Parts: sequence; structure tokens; C-alpha cells
Amino acid sequence: MNADSASLVYNPNDEDTRRDPFALYERLQEHDPVHWSPVLKSWILTRYDDVRQVCMGQGVSSDRLRPFYESLKDERRDILSGVMRYLNHWLVFKAPPEHTRLRRLLNTVISPATVAEMGPAIRSAFDHIMQGLDPSQEMDFMKEVAELFPAFVILDMLGVPRQDFRAIKGWSDDLRLFIGTAQGEGDKYRRARDGADHMSAYFREIIALRRREPGSDAISRMVAARDEGGMLSEDELVGCCMLFLFGGHETTTNLLGSAVVALLKHPDQLERLHAEPALIDAAVEEFLRYDGPSNSIARVVAQDHELGGKTLRAGERLFAMINAANRDPRQFSDPHRLELARTPNRHLTFGFGIHFCLGAPLARMEAKVCLGELAARFPKMRAGSAPPDWIDALIMRGPKRLPLILA
Ligand code: HEM
Repeated sequence: MNADSASLVYNPNDEDTRRDPFALYERLQEHDPVHWSPVLKSWILTRYDDVRQVCMGQGVSSDRLRPFYESLKDERRDILSGVMRYLNHWLVFKAPPEHTRLRRLLNTVISPATVAEMGPAIRSAFDHIMQGLDPSQEMDFMKEVAELFPAFVILDMLGVPRQDFRAIKGWSDDLRLFIGTAQGEGDKYRRARDGADHMSAYFREIIALRRREPGSDAISRMVAARDEGGMLSEDELVGCCMLFLFGGHETTTNLLGSAVVALLKHPDQLERLHAEPALIDAAVEEFLRYDGPSNSIARVVAQDHELGGKTLRAGERLFAMINAANRDPRQFSDPHRLELARTPNRHLTFGFGIHFCLGAPLARMEAKVCLGELAARFPKMRAGSAPPDWIDALIMRGPKRLPLILA
């Protein structure tokens, strides 16, 4: 360790880091790429190659909740058993062969083909939201657009009424208290359990309905999915609905918010997208790279191994910082510049390897519709009266509040 690395501390709750983590990521990459964070009691990896290896499962396990749960000895373990019942079935925490089986069954539920079919409905969900807005008035883009749009899309996809959004969002936020790394919430486990209880009861009812009357929605497709090994069990179905809902709205919300912030900071790129709408596919990839919503992925070290001159011990926690990797100058030229036509652009925002995001085609389509439309209609959009506030999360990144004037 040299003098530079000794002074480096990664603390995601630090106000400056939350606003702009990238300067610190760059220093970590340079001076301490395999960093031990005393605040998080975890390893922090920031170089592209290391993050990619972690995504591929090299020396790590994705089963990060169960060891934590099993280490609990007090009443928290009883409280959380109701949450683990469903989270145990989440693809993200699974390894082959269970992962392979679940993934095969779910591949038909969200595929590029099913998403392409949803294109017109996705456009109409966006138009519906925009029709309710006055573009000349300052608004909080997060509340008025970025939260609603992906939520409506995922609810439509699951075949669940949009008016249930507020209730579902409340349960999902409570569940996040356990899955995220939120600190200081005294009763967070109890709230997470209650959130999981409500959500599971809600989905159980819808699954029963779809069994009786199948439709063309994703829940009907999940109920019908089968392979040579059989079908999804009832708890797997409920778990998958929860995962789609959980993985499917907040990430995209954050992407839309961060992309708008990026365009406000780079008006030349906004003008370019306005003038060249065909750039939108490449632009979405660049928004994903430049300041994506999956700030990091968490893993547990599976066996003792050396990395960057440090010894990582089995059982230790590790965060592979996707957003740092996406700005690694060893992989991307001029990485801090938003370059909408950037190619190649091998960002890691959807992960890599067997856990590559199942919802990527849907997220890409939503971003294309929303950001393409904003650039076409509002090339002069500008920041509102206050700078954005950023969420204080380690795993997720995005604006919490984003004052904006569209026209
Ligand atoms: C911009 C939006 C999104 C981003 C940045 C994102 C990012 C990610 C990442 C990084 C992973 C891998 C996690 C890991 O390896 O630990 C992942 C997995 C996953 N995502 Fe997404 N996601 C997005 C949208 C969605 C949507 C819209 C859905 C569903 C409708 C979804 C469903 C999933 C599922 C089911 C997995 C687990 C895949 C597996 O483990 O095999 N995601 N996502």
C-alpha cells in the first residue's frame, strides 16, 4: 500500500461521493483497485477486467443472502423466514443447476420477441404520462415521469392493474430495506417481512386467476412455462413475479433520470440526438455506460484467493463496481465524456455471464421510447431551480429528485 492508497476510503454515504462517485473510482482504479472498505467491511473492485471476472463468477458466489440469513441467531431470523421463502427462488442469488433450470423456464417470458410485441403498448404508456404534463412548468422528472413509466410498463406486462401501483410500490420499498443496504431503519426486517407478505398474497391471487383464465400477459406465460423437468412451483412463481417487479421498475427509473442529467450536462449531445434520431440505439448504450443504475453487484468470496496483491478470504463480502468499470480508461477512451455514438461500447451495466439481465431488452426499449421522444420534442430542455438529489445507495445509482423544465 502506498501513501495514496492509504488515504483512500470508499464510503457510499459520503455526500460528495453520492453526488459524484467517479473521481474517487478513478483514484481507486489507479492506486488501490482491490480496496478494503472498513466502512462496509467489504472488498471494493473498480477495474473493468476484475469486475467482469466477478460477473462471470470467478472465485465468488452469488448466494449472498443465505449465509447472512443463516448467521442470524435471534428473532430477526424468524422474522425474515417469510422473506427468504421467496428470495430463495430469485435467479440472481442462484447457481447452476438450479439457475439454469429457472432461467430456461423464464427465457420465454421476457424475450426480444415478446418485448418487440409490447412496443406499441410501451409507447402508449409513455404518451399517456406525457399528456398529463405541462412542459413549460418546472416538474420533478423522477416523480412525474421516470417512476411512473417503467412501473406502468412492468404492471402492464404482468397484467396487473395500474391503479395498484402505489400499494405495490410501498411493499416493494419495504422489501428493499432488506435487499438493499439501507442503514438506520430500526424495524427494517419487520417491514421487509410485511412487504413480502403483502406482495406474495397479492400475486398468489393473480396467479390463481390466471390458472383459471390464462391471458397473454407474463404471469400467464410463467404459469404455462414448462420444460422436461416440469413447471415452476407456486413459491417460484410468486418469487419470480416479485423479482420482475423489483428488478423491473426502479433500475429503469434510475436510468431515465441519470440519462436526463447527462444530457443537461452535455447540450451538444442533446442537440445531436435531436438532429439524428437514428442514433438512439447507440445513445441508450452510452447512457447505460456513462452513469448507469447498477452501481455495483454484490458477491461473497467463495474460496481464498489472491487478487491485485491482496488475499481475499472465503466468506468475505465483495462489491464489483460496475459504474467504475464502465469508466475505466483501460477499456474506454475518454471515459468521462458522454459520446452518444460511442463504438465499441462493451459496458457491464446489465452484468455479464449467466446472470446477464433477463430484462435488458425491455429496459432498452423503454429507454429508447422515453429518451428518443424527449430529445425529439424537447431539444431545449433545461435544469430546474435546484440540482438533482442522488439516492444514497451502494447497489443502485440514480437521482432521487430531478427538477426539470422541458420547454
Ligand atoms: C436499466 C435497467 C436495468 C438494469 C441496469 C439491470 C441490471 C441488471 C444486472 C446488473 C443484473 C445482474 C445482477 C447480478 O449479476 O448480480 C440483472 C439481472 C436481472 N435483471 Fe435486470 N436490470 C434492468 C432492468 C430489468 C428489467 C426491466 C427486468 C425485468 C422485467 C429485469 C430483470 C432481471 C432479472 C430477472 C435478473 C436476474 C437474471 C439472472 O440472474 O439470471 N431487469 N439486471
